Amino acid sequence: MCGIVGYVGTEPAGPIVYGGLENLDYRGYDSAGVALVDQELTVAKQAGEVSELRVPEVANATCGIGHTRWSTHGPPTDANAHPHTSQNGSVAVVHNGIIENYESLKGELLKEGFDFSSDTDTEVIPHLLEQELNDGHDLLSAVDRVVDRLEGSYAIAAVRAGSDRIVATRHESPLVIGHGDDAAFVASDVTAFLEHTRDVTYLEDGDVVSLEAAHATVYHDGDRVDREIETVEWDADAAEKGGYEHYMRKEIHEQPTALRQTLSGRIDLDRGDVDLDLSFPQGYLESLEEIQLVACGTSYYASQYAATLLEEFADVRATVEIASEYEFDGGRDPWRTLVIAVTQSGETADTLGAIRRAAGAGARTLAVTNTLGSTVTRETNDTLFIRAGPEIGVAATKTFASQVTTLALLAVAVGRGRGSLSTADARDVLENVRGLPGAVQQVLDDEARVTEVANECLGSDAFFFVGRRFGYPVALEGALKLKEISYDHAEGFAAGELKHGPLALVTEKTPVLAVLTAGADGSETVNNLAEAQTRGAPAIGVVSDGAETGSLDCALEVPRVGVFEPLVANVYFQLFAYHVANLKDRSIDKPRNLAKSVTVE
Ligand code: G6P
Repeated sequence: MCGIVGYVGTEPAGPIVYGGLENLDYRGYDSAGVALVDQELTVAKQAGEVSELRVPEVANATCGIGHTRWSTHGPPTDANAHPHTSQNGSVAVVHNGIIENYESLKGELLKEGFDFSSDTDTEVIPHLLEQELNDGHDLLSAVDRVVDRLEGSYAIAAVRAGSDRIVATRHESPLVIGHGDDAAFVASDVTAFLEHTRDVTYLEDGDVVSLEAAHATVYHDGDRVDREIETVEWDADAAEKGGYEHYMRKEIHEQPTALRQTLSGRIDLDRGDVDLDLSFPQGYLESLEEIQLVACGTSYYASQYAATLLEEFADVRATVEIASEYEFDGGRDPWRTLVIAVTQSGETADTLGAIRRAAGAGARTLAVTNTLGSTVTRETNDTLFIRAGPEIGVAATKTFASQVTTLALLAVAVGRGRGSLSTADARDVLENVRGLPGAVQQVLDDEARVTEVANECLGSDAFFFVGRRFGYPVALEGALKLKEISYDHAEGFAAGELKHGPLALVTEKTPVLAVLTAGADGSETVNNLAEAQTRGAPAIGVVSDGAETGSLDCALEVPRVGVFEPLVANVYFQLFAYHVANLKDRSIDKPRNLAKSVTVE
């Protein structure tokens, strides 16, 4: 997804802005560029990797902006890369999001004699700014006036020749300020400037900020406002690879730590309860008729897992909706429906759209996210952080484990609040949850076997993943992981469905990977697996520790943690996807065509 970085200070801006672009690399992009401010603007931009971008040396430039672009309007070309400049070259702009009314604005500007050199929606912005500046406005008021004319979602940073100042603003797209010593930063994501400062201010929709070396001043509706300065706990080191070849493998191995963080201080075994610091009104949980989970991608599969946990522990109807398809309808009572947005980034446009529709209908909303200060946290009644730490690999791994675990705690909280989960049952659940970090570690210690299995499977035509109950979302997630990073054809099915169609595709070159643990009705799935085996398919099963392995070609064991065993089995699937992709020398951390955070609908 597109990334913004900007710097104003006392040091040469070029290397700092370039470093910011490198830090934003993980978001996924197809072109990059910078604009450095001196008496003139120096712009360098091109399609391709940040490493290919040559940032010119402009010794006196102590102010600059940069951008990594992921195409939405117009293909990834040098001309379409940001920054975009105005007709006379005095203004440069970087932009994330979409300007929905750009065609009509472009029409007006064309009539007034402005030329366009790109296919982007963004290019209208520098031209509009130039008009305002020509009319005598300064950059701050020009930005203010121009955004009044924009429809859509945007984070924008603008600079002007001859002025060491960045003016930035946001609407439905993230933007954060960093406060350094004699330096100010602006970025779409704190990772961009974390090696320079950890003191940050998350901007709100409609804020306009003027950044100069000594200070950042925030305005809202024309008035100066104070916004809180927070200290980000993550440091730049935590966002580096830490000795692993790929972020993805590092993040798979971070799961025991991530899960400990997720659980830290939240479990009270004596009371058989959890402390999640949520502010449900008195009597709210008891009156709930339904919990809806809205999410995309991996978060959607985590939500499917969680929905079954909620139904089991909390005795409440729980439904899962793909965020882009979601409408609050079906005769539901908004007061008795809790809508949970599950999104690791907190910025996924589809999920934000869904939660806005739910809130618009009057439902109470809750965000389950990994990202402090993200948009979703500002738009929901409550937030529950999954505390997985930064995840750089595009393929979500540790955030899936932490999402399911956080939602399991929520299911206990709701079950206890509704009186549907006894103290003894809650303790049993929480004992299993507490066993998760250790159980995942045991799977990680078995990685060498997964490497062997991955090796044996090279040359397969396709891969099928099957499971029941909690094993079903894990089968879907296992297949998603493999297809994302290896580009192999992989599909997940409810095990019972194999015989209703997919079996036609099964041959000796289609390994079937099955979840056969507790919580996944393994004994029934074994029969479905046998149907594939008789057609020659290699059968790889994940079983509970010490369980019968029958006629499996390969049995992988998980420690006994009850209904959470499929979650642990998923770690085998993550490792399998990783090693298949690695043996094929794929671009694991940045798979083709995919982005970590998708902020367009
Ligand atoms: C993108 C990512 C997926 C992720 C999905 C939802 O498609 O590539 O890995 O699962 O977005 O992201 P979210 O941040 O909302 O969990």
